[in-house]
Amino acid sequence: MKKIQISPSILSADFSQLGKEIKRLEESGADMIHVDVMDGHFVPNLTIGPPVIKALKTTSSIIFDVHLMISPVHKYIEAYSNAGADIITIHPEATDNLQSSISKIKELKKKVGISLNPETKIDVITKYLDQIDLVLIMSVNPGFGGQKFMPEVLIKIKDLKKIQIEKKLNFDIEVDGGINFENSKSAIEAGANILVSGTTIFKSNNGDIKKNIELLKSK
Ligand code: DX5
Ligand code: ZN
Repeated sequence: MKKIQISPSILSADFSQLGKEIKRLEESGADMIHVDVMDGHFVPNLTIGPPVIKALKTTSSIIFDVHLMISPVHKYIEAYSNAGADIITIHPEATDNLQSSISKIKELKKKVGISLNPETKIDVITKYLDQIDLVLIMSVNPGFGGQKFMPEVLIKIKDLKKIQIEKKLNFDIEVDGGINFENSKSAIEAGANILVSGTTIFKSNNGDIKKNIELLKSK
């Protein structure tokens, strides 16, 4: 079994102190940081762009796990790569040509992630699974932090894990949205090996992020 990794979403961090918040996450045992990029079009919310990522990248050597919720995504892949994204995750609905967007990320020598919304079926990505590094299973509808985990996605994680074993593939399975100390175990048991968490990490136990990361890992 793969080691369980935690990717805290900086969406719930103090935006006036982002550089310091990332340092704090790094020192508290985060394996990477999850950067939620939203465009006010693919999802209703608007967040951060490449210049901010580029500036934050100078503050830390931690892996930047960049979740692009923007459409059309293809023309922006290079900008996020240049800004310092290490993992670039895109949604199939946000590109006209998923194959060429995957190839583009690979040409830039970044890890490729594909994200599935709660209603998006695994079939959409089955034929690409041997080319990608990560599948990000959304357990909320993308757009906002602090939403409630949708337990119905657990079956999708299980199905994906089954396909992975059958095809002898090695991509990571990351789950994103509403992860807390109660449901993290079920996501891991279903097959997820990377947990994204914003609210639980930054707000539980009076914001003791070290404790919260440890608790999520140990469930
Ligand atoms: C939702 C984002 C998530 C989310 C995670 O669109 O992709 O990364 O902010 O935050 P919590 O853990 O608060 O659901
Ligand atoms: Zn995300």
